Amino acid sequence: MKKAWDDSTMMRAARCQKTESVPVWLMRQAGRYMEEYRKIRERVSFLELCKTPELAAEVMITAVQRLGVDAGIIFSDILLILEPMGLELEFEPEGGPKIRNPIRKSSDVELLRELESIEPLEFVMNTVRYTREGLDDSLPLIGFAGAPFTLAAYAIEGNSSRNFRQVKAFMHVYPTEWQEMMTKFAVSTARYLNSQINAGVQLVQIFDSWIGCLSGEDYKKYVKPYSRMLIDLIVPGTPIIHFGPGNPVLLPDIRDAGGHVIGIDWRVSVNQAWEIIGANYAIQGNLDPAILLTNREIIRQSVQHLLRQVERRPGFIFNLGHGIMPQTPVENAIALVDAVHEFGVVR
Ligand code: CP3
Repeated sequence: MKKAWDDSTMMRAARCQKTESVPVWLMRQAGRYMEEYRKIRERVSFLELCKTPELAAEVMITAVQRLGVDAGIIFSDILLILEPMGLELEFEPEGGPKIRNPIRKSSDVELLRELESIEPLEFVMNTVRYTREGLDDSLPLIGFAGAPFTLAAYAIEGNSSRNFRQVKAFMHVYPTEWQEMMTKFAVSTARYLNSQINAGVQLVQIFDSWIGCLSGEDYKKYVKPYSRMLIDLIVPGTPIIHFGPGNPVLLPDIRDAGGHVIGIDWRVSVNQAWEIIGANYAIQGNLDPAILLTNREIIRQSVQHLLRQVERRPGFIFNLGHGIMPQTPVENAIALVDAVHEFGVVR
């Protein structure tokens, strides 16, 4: 049966179809910038919150209603898949992730387990179900996962690295083990995303958050085949948003690796990105999240400026180029969403 969300602006834009207005949602729309979220986090740790589906759903539904955005995303994290694959994950009190047993030697790759069963991540599927039940039928729900490279970067570095020297050294020094590890991440992540789709999400986003640290050549050789493997394994019919920020030079290869919507950051303009990627792809992005630290006037001008570039082109999803910063005043995030709804009406 057709559902209200099938005809939503978000789903239509993801399929590059015309919409009457530009859809908007924000990466990290549920998070520490929001008082309701901080209240819940006084009682439970971040990992506990992710593993308590009723609470995770509540956090996202509250954020969606508070902001008035056009899509929800499940409240979860890209790193949760690492636990059932054999890595010990922690989040430090200030928020940063840490792997207690990172992959450092070539023999460590054998210890990394392919995710054979989704059972240990069943709590994520329950988050999907509860969030879907609580969201208005007109709003699609987005599922997500990390891309193989970004997962490998965490698995090897053990935390949010600045220069990624260990992951880069690993892929050059141990190409065979690298291939084995990236294949495990691609296959496991496809299984994970297909389960999220089965549980009720309408779109999926693949976060390749750290990809911008690579050269074009290294992306082609060491990463692209595995991102493509992952995307090719996703059951057809669900729009895929492929987000690879940081280095616009990579965009043609990111596009070729797959996905219907390409997520971009502010380092490239929307017009430049469309020129590079091609008009038959949808684009998601790309306001600098720092703009949300300014004021209502600057936010409104920035939204107007961005939407002028888009004009009436179908296939645009308004978002930030990266997640909302914790210092963002919530009224600024609301002002952004309101401005997109005001200026993004397609006549
Ligand atoms: O967008 C949403 O609101 C949905 C939830 C979501 C979270 N993480 C919740 C979260 C999503 C989509 C993610 C993805 C994610 N997680 C990425 C890719 C996007 C990006 O930011 O590049 C990455 C790299 C991670 C790994 C991760 N999780 C880091 C580096 C951190 C610490 C830094 C930070 O921003 O706090 C987290 C923790 C995290 N994930 C928080 C939230 C709300 C903050 C935890 C807290 O202290 O309450």
